Amino acid sequence: TGTFHILGIESSCDDTAAAVLRVDRSKAQILSNVVYGQSELHARFGGVVPEIAARAHAEKIDLCIEDALSQSGLALEDLDGIAVTAGPGLIGGVLAGVMCAKGLSAATGLPLIGVNHLAGHALTPRLTDDVTYPYLLLLVSGGHCQILIVRGDEDFTRLGGTIDDSPGEAFDKTAKLLGMSQPGGPAVEAEARNGDQRAIALPRPLLDRPGCDMSFSGLKTAVLRQRDAAVARDGGLKRSVRADLCGAFQLAVRDILVEKTRRALDIYLAERPKTPTLAVAGGVAANGMLRAGLEKLARQQGMAFVAPPLALCTDNAAMIAYAGAQRLIAGAQDGLDLAARPRWPL
Ligand code: KG4
Ligand code: ZN
Repeated sequence: TGTFHILGIESSCDDTAAAVLRVDRSKAQILSNVVYGQSELHARFGGVVPEIAARAHAEKIDLCIEDALSQSGLALEDLDGIAVTAGPGLIGGVLAGVMCAKGLSAATGLPLIGVNHLAGHALTPRLTDDVTYPYLLLLVSGGHCQILIVRGDEDFTRLGGTIDDSPGEAFDKTAKLLGMSQPGGPAVEAEARNGDQRAIALPRPLLDRPGCDMSFSGLKTAVLRQRDAAVARDGGLKRSVRADLCGAFQLAVRDILVEKTRRALDIYLAERPKTPTLAVAGGVAANGMLRAGLEKLARQQGMAFVAPPLALCTDNAAMIAYAGAQRLIAGAQDGLDLAARPRWPL
């Protein structure tokens, strides 16, 4: 009939997720999209602990899939395929998802499709909007930072990325340095509203170098130095200084990401794409200031700007089901020897 019903499974970091999609070529309808987060399990360690993550995925994945199926109103036998994240990510978690998907595939005879997690993020703008290839994508999250030209379902050109921390990591570490809660992005964004973002000057590492590569670890170190200087001067970290630092940090991240995206746009636009589009994905895409900066950049260039809803920007299984469906429609399928890969560049 040309319509496929796909189950997606995602477990590569600290979210156990399952989703069911009805896909008709590039058009998709999300029938269910379930995410079991693990943040409370990792909170007191100040970061994701791979061992704890793997065990939690293994414990929750069956329940998560049952939930996604029941919310979709479909049963396993109504499906046409099972898509699973096969990497890159924390190997224990990826294995939990891959083993579960293999078990379901072996038991039902449904095709198994391994999906690259990054491809899932990269195709999300097409899941939510009418976006045609090629488009320019800024992928920014806790685990990733890349600028890509997305040319097809499995055709990507990487123009640049971070050489050290991801922007999400930098937000999280900055929040930790300033004694704020995790995840750091939303906390820093909220606190920045109470401060003066121009009161303290922070560096923009690598911004003066040509190309699209980025660096964020020096920025976090600069925040640490400013914090220590303020503590020595004031006898503690004043709330107003903390708010100023959050604002200055957010502004610097925005400047770095917008400027590097501007350079990538020059390369992309030189190819004269028919419907030039700038898209953003990943958890850091939730940041209002970054979104506004990118939207303005796109407007200046007369391009469309696409930012998927937050629930589809952060890790989820709907994007995995969608990317898997595209492979299935193209006639691809994996065997029960599908490998879980900790590293898997696009
Ligand atoms: O995509 P995601 O949910 O998981 C990964 O694949 O990493 O992204 C999570 C990251 C965290 O580092 C979090 O601090 C950041 O996205 N984040 C934000 C905001 N909301 C989440 N960063 C900046 N501003 C936000 N509003
Ligand atoms: Zn991700």
